[in-house]
Amino acid sequence: MSAPARGRAGGSGTGVFSGARARIADRTLRTDRWWLSPLLTTGGLAVFVVYATIRSFMRDFYWVDAYHYLTPFYSPCLSDSCVPGSSHFGTPFGELPGIVPLGFLALPFLLGFRLTCYYYRKAYYRSVWLSPPACAVAEPHAKYTGETRLPLIIQNAHRYFFYVALIISLVNTYDAILAFHGETGGFGFGLGNVVLVVNVVLLWAYTLSCHSCRHITGGRLKHFSKHPVRYWIWTQITKLNNRHMTLAWTTLGTLMLTDLYVMLVSSGAIADLRFVN
Ligand code: FES
Repeated sequence: MSAPARGRAGGSGTGVFSGARARIADRTLRTDRWWLSPLLTTGGLAVFVVYATIRSFMRDFYWVDAYHYLTPFYSPCLSDSCVPGSSHFGTPFGELPGIVPLGFLALPFLLGFRLTCYYYRKAYYRSVWLSPPACAVAEPHAKYTGETRLPLIIQNAHRYFFYVALIISLVNTYDAILAFHGETGGFGFGLGNVVLVVNVVLLWAYTLSCHSCRHITGGRLKHFSKHPVRYWIWTQITKLNNRHMTLAWTTLGTLMLTDLYVMLVSSGAIADLRFVN
């Protein structure tokens, strides 16, 4: 691969286009498969985006009335367009036009939370934005402005998306508790409950492992010894934080699997495996 044209011509830009950089003819001297990781990341993110978009607009098979299973993609369901029983927090909104997803209140914040996540930033900056694609591989962009301008300056709002994500995790937890419902009423327990609970536990783990959460609990302290409770919480959050990337990918998978399970049961394609009632 040849080097970016501007770099060869004058070197008047920034980063790899800077005149202070060595003039190397090749874009990279790496001979390993450095492109594999960005390629897999792009593929993984694309699968989730396509699946979530289709399901969010489908408006069907998101609620299992017999067992009160509600997919997280439609929670909270707050409009008169939601099927009876699926609106755990009432219906303050009337009928919604078909182009509006029924989970319209939570979806933008969940999307904002993931898009501004420190891990996902690293992932899509490298794989989608190619800025840079990998260590020691020149990026194709002529100018680097970082996160100082629109739209990337919005990344700085991650902490506020985190606060909303906490509320949404509480909503999902409430949904999972209500789902312990038997077909004839009262307590019930099936494979769907296992799916919903595992999903919500992992969502909590991902949310609490957030870098903003770590900073909120233990940041800006001069002496940990004077704040033993905050220090203890910070150490626990740090342990989760070390697994943030793993949790980011795992929860993308469990979100899709949970939704898929609810869809299959709701549509009658499979029957829920019941342990109680
Ligand atoms: Fe990833 Fe906050 S850094 S969710």
